[in-house]
Amino acid sequence: MILTIANQKGGVGKTTTVVNLGTALASIDKKVLILDVDPQYNSSLSFNRYNHELSIYKALSGEKKLKDLIQETQIPNLKIISACEDLAAAEYELASDENRNFIIKEQLDQIKEEYDYIFIDTPPTLGLLTISALAASDEVLIPVQCEFFALEGLSKLVKTIDMIKENLNTNLKINGIVLTMYDKRNSLSTLIEDEARKYFDTVVYKFNVPRNVKLSEAPSHGLPAIIYDLNCAGSQAYIGLAREFIERNKK
Ligand SMILES: Nc1ncnc2c1ncn2[C@@H]1O[C@H](COP(=O)(O)OP(=O)(O)OP(=O)(O)O)[C@@H](O)[C@H]1O
Ligand SMILES: [Mg+2]
Repeated sequence: MILTIANQKGGVGKTTTVVNLGTALASIDKKVLILDVDPQYNSSLSFNRYNHELSIYKALSGEKKLKDLIQETQIPNLKIISACEDLAAAEYELASDENRNFIIKEQLDQIKEEYDYIFIDTPPTLGLLTISALAASDEVLIPVQCEFFALEGLSKLVKTIDMIKENLNTNLKINGIVLTMYDKRNSLSTLIEDEARKYFDTVVYKFNVPRNVKLSEAPSHGLPAIIYDLNCAGSQAYIGLAREFIERNKK
């Protein structure tokens, strides 16, 4: 299954979710590939796997095949295709390519059978990279930060997803919305949660990811939080989320 993690709002927990949900699933023997299509390459850094020569840009520019860019990580069963800053140019370079929206799909189709889950981390825009990730995906997972204005951008994102369903990928489904950086002592968090559950009902994951400092420390050590500190509240939340994720996929 190919899953894009998207939200055009910046800093809502997309990368943290890709890295830790991916690690949690790999640790229960699922074969996972993370595809970093963000020119900020935060997923790549989170595994200490930034490598200019092995960037997904090489596949988008036609220099290499995707399968030749796969890197191992510290976690068995979890591989990554990293990004680098060149990727920012890809949006511009591919703009006139008629096939631009399917460039990720065509390449992923060649390797997808080898993985249980492929997670695509996207930049905080609804540009070409995010759109071609969505065109390649079976489902989209949307992290929403429990902050004021959190829900404002959601209707635009849902409209974009509908547009992609109509024009590029009729099978695309919303896997769910994950509430991140949740602080139960903060009334704003509970307010956002109530609103999100009222409007989006069961689309919203039951499991919220709490605000937890270990989740933000782990990337500076080049490790997923689940490896950096398995017992912290953030790691345990992503393990719970992985369980719910698997339950959802059974239905
Ligand atoms: N639950 C959490 N608790 C505390 N800090 C968090 C949590 N989730 C993410 N962070 C931190 O918040 C910042 C933004 O998170 P992250 O990078 O995952 O967001 P993003 O949506 O991928 O951002 P961007 O849009 O820039 O790609 C990072 O410094 C991250 O470590
Ligand atoms: Mg990110």
